[in-house]
Amino acid sequence: MNAPQKQPADLRTVLVCQNCTCLARGGEKLLQALQAADLPDDVEIVASDCLGQCNMAPNARIIPEETWYCRLSPEDAPRIVREHLQEGKPVKDKLHPRIHSYYSFL
Ligand code: FES
Repeated sequence: MNAPQKQPADLRTVLVCQNCTCLARGGEKLLQALQAADLPDDVEIVASDCLGQCNMAPNARIIPEETWYCRLSPEDAPRIVREHLQEGKPVKDKLHPRIHSYYSFL
C-alpha cells in the first residue's frame, strides 16, 4: 500500500525573499542554506518575491503559522531548521520584532 500523499494543508512553507534588498544582503545564500538543510518531511523551502519588510532584510516567512524571521544570515539556517522546524521552538532573537513583540524582564 502506498503512503498517503502530503496535502497542502499538511505542509509548512518557508518563503525566503529573493527580491533586491534581501538579495543584496545575502538572501540567495540564505535560501541555499535552508534548501541544503535536513528538513522535516512537512517543510518546503520556496523562493519568494518581496515580503514587504525590506528594511529588515534578509527575511523569511513561515506559513501557514505566520512566523516571520528577519536579518537572517546563512549561518542562522541550521538553528532555524533544528530549533523551529524540527523541535517547534521559534528562534526568538531572529523573530521580526514588529510582528512578534515580546517582553523579557530577565
Ligand atoms: S526585498 Fe526582501 S522583503 Fe522586500
